Amino acid sequence: MTPELEIHRVTESRIGQINWDNLPFGHIFTDHMLVMDYRDDSWQTPQIVPYGPISMHPCNTTLHYGQSIFEGMKAIRSKDGRVTLFRPDMNAKRFAESCLRMAMPVIPEARFIELVKTLVRFEQTWIPDRAEASLYIRPFLFATDEYLGVRPSKTYKFMILTCPVGAYYAKPVSVKIEETYTRAAEGGVGRAKTAGNYAASLYPTQRAIEQGFQQLIWTDAKSHEYLEESGTMNLMLVIDGVLLTPSEDSDTILRSVVKRSVVELAKHWGLPVEERRISVAEVITAIREGRLTDAFGAGTAATIAPIAKIGYRDELFELPALETRAVSLRIKAYLDGIKSGDCADELSWCVEI
Ligand SMILES: Cc1ncc(COP(=O)(O)O)c(C=O)c1O
Repeated sequence: MTPELEIHRVTESRIGQINWDNLPFGHIFTDHMLVMDYRDDSWQTPQIVPYGPISMHPCNTTLHYGQSIFEGMKAIRSKDGRVTLFRPDMNAKRFAESCLRMAMPVIPEARFIELVKTLVRFEQTWIPDRAEASLYIRPFLFATDEYLGVRPSKTYKFMILTCPVGAYYAKPVSVKIEETYTRAAEGGVGRAKTAGNYAASLYPTQRAIEQGFQQLIWTDAKSHEYLEESGTMNLMLVIDGVLLTPSEDSDTILRSVVKRSVVELAKHWGLPVEERRISVAEVITAIREGRLTDAFGAGTAATIAPIAKIGYRDELFELPALETRAVSLRIKAYLDGIKSGDCADELSWCVEI
């Protein structure tokens, strides 16, 4: 009988070397990782193995043609010691959708969640208990065929890495509205969480960083007149008391777990919410007229990230003071509260591992 899981432990843990007060995002990895290969049309036995380099052929199809997808999730330790994941079913569903779009074999959603839980349970001593800190989880899948030629690979590797992290953005962010470059076009792969979307964003983002911004706000590929999303998070604005966010009816925006949760929460609280096309012009006018009262990014890594400044063409707009941002402060307090156990999880979003 095939074992359900093979475990190969490290001989010595690195956990004693960690400075828990300094957890730069994405640099520190736990002792183990999970690996599950796909070959002969089926998933093989998953293995938990020591974190470390993997070998691959130089003509690995991911390196040449970018058949690669990923997810981002977090495990949090609440004050009473429980370990929870935030809406893992949504990541599992998005992962399956990304698999389909990138012509990769789908990992059934329940199996995906079970594998994530298995590694998090195994590495749970690595989950930080500091405020704003968590165990970031990076499931990913990539092609492994030894072959040059453009066709879907027949073999793949699914892996999960876990890393203790602090805040992704240490300070409120300054973002630039991008009108030249494009993140995603209709009919493309913007809705999939695939590596190439991020590769394509690097050069324009680098230019924005040189101009003093941390991130871009992408606009639509056709006219550059409508807001889409930011590089690592979805965009949310409050104008005239209404919580606004770009609608997801095209396939150019990543369906964000946190953004969907913010929308559902605002509706649950009875706040006015609109998901629709949002033009750059209406936002700039609202800023000028003092009707934009809040602006933030929503994402797993970024959490609820206040936007302090928006750059548009040659102008830089300072947005309202952070302490006046009633909507995002309330949302952040609720989301932090249900994770830490300080407030009731009314919508049952935190799933114990
Ligand atoms: C491009 C992009 N948009 C939005 C998000 C936010 O998605 P989520 O809330 O599911 O983390 C992310 C991060 O995952 C992202 O990379």
